[in-house]
Amino acid sequence: MSRRRDPLRFLSPERYEKEPPAALVGRFDVRSGDRVLDLGCGPGFFSDALLDAAMPGGALAVLDASEEMIEAFMAHSPAAAAARTVTAKVPPVPFDDASFDFVWAAHVLHEFDPLPVVLAEVFRVLAPGGRLVCVDWAPVPTEHGPSLSKRIRPEAAAEFLKEAGFERVKWGAIGREKYYVRGVRLT
Ligand SMILES: C[S@@+](CC[C@H](N)C(=O)[O-])C[C@H]1O[C@@H](n2cnc3c(N)ncnc32)[C@H](O)[C@@H]1O
Repeated sequence: MSRRRDPLRFLSPERYEKEPPAALVGRFDVRSGDRVLDLGCGPGFFSDALLDAAMPGGALAVLDASEEMIEAFMAHSPAAAAARTVTAKVPPVPFDDASFDFVWAAHVLHEFDPLPVVLAEVFRVLAPGGRLVCVDWAPVPTEHGPSLSKRIRPEAAAEFLKEAGFERVKWGAIGREKYYVRGVRLT
């Protein structure tokens, strides 16, 4: 398998050192007891930190369009034994209304098509009070990441969240290369 297609490229020691997943997840408000969805989980770089943050009492579901990614998640993530795994391309988001309290979408916002439909679906599967956090690549030249033409400006991402119904929408920089955008489903 070429390096580009190898799911394990997302689990490199360099990445763990550069951006420890628990440190980034810890910047956001995953709460004990939360039902968490890791949307576009890949091989699970953030999944274990998300599950830990939801403990005690929480639950984790992971979803990815790629069978190879889900297989790598099953083989390598410490969260695999506890997580519900789903292989599906969104949209639609294949869960019932109000199934989650927290949705995490890292490095995948720029891949969703059509993005407004995916965000409306994420809004639907969140319970009132539920939160969405997206992390993605900033529109600046970087060594890794998607082409600049695919990247979404954080201001535009924030508008997409608002249009999907999210409130308290905020975005901020994560270093020079990335940003987060978050919102809440209030009712
Ligand atoms: C760049 S990887 C990020 C993986 C992980 N979130 C991380 O930060 O390490 C993007 C992942 O999103 C998945 N993906 C892309 N489009 C998707 C879609 N429409 N539905 C579900 N998964 C998707 C890809 O298969 C890939 O595993």
